[in-house]
Amino acid sequence: MKFNLVTIFPDLVNNFIEHGLFAKAINNSLIEVKAWDPREFSGNKDGRIDDKPFGGGQGMLFQPEPIINTVNEIKKHNKTHVIFVAPHGTIFNQKKAIDLKAYENITIVCGRYEGIDKRIEETCIDEVISIGDYVLNGGELAAFVLMEAIARQHKDFIGNKESLNDSFSDGLLEHPQYTRPEKNASWECARNINQWKS
Ligand SMILES: C[S@@+](CC[C@H](N)C(=O)[O-])C[C@H]1O[C@@H](n2cnc3c(N)ncnc32)[C@H](O)[C@@H]1O
Repeated sequence: MKFNLVTIFPDLVNNFIEHGLFAKAINNSLIEVKAWDPREFSGNKDGRIDDKPFGGGQGMLFQPEPIINTVNEIKKHNKTHVIFVAPHGTIFNQKKAIDLKAYENITIVCGRYEGIDKRIEETCIDEVISIGDYVLNGGELAAFVLMEAIARQHKDFIGNKESLNDSFSDGLLEHPQYTRPEKNASWECARNINQWKS
């Protein structure tokens, strides 16, 4: 399974995948993650990727060429399902993560600033996904959420397959869990105090 993240901050991606189960999955060649910087495919000598919105408005938008060129470059190497993460997309959930697992190769376009020129969406995006009804500075965190939730569905991503019986796997939340010792006088005491308070 391969993820391509289109981002003006490739280091964020490279840092994220250096940790935990992602690092392990990449070392074991189970998953591949590549950050693509649209500045490298901007088509102009300055590597410029943004411009003011045509017709006015605040902030800056990603121009079409750098993003479309980057997605086309990715498509030269692999057939890929292209997602744009944005607040106006379909809300992401566990079912969507399971559905997306069917794609061997996923590209996630991460917006920044005021967002992206709408023509990018019309030209090279297969679907738009939101991670919730709030606004983030950029799409990278949303892309990590998608990538991690999808990767966890891969049968070998989590060493212990029983762990896949997590919350939402059967439409329900997981039951509360405890570590040993079963009884501890000081915790019991704190627990009782908290119960009296509420
Ligand atoms: C500051 S936001 C732009 C918000 C946009 N002007 C709007 O009002 O919908 C910059 C980028 O962050 C990402 N983003 C922000 N909130 C998000 C969310 N809830 N889900 C997914 N991506 C989000 C998108 O890629 C977006 O293009």
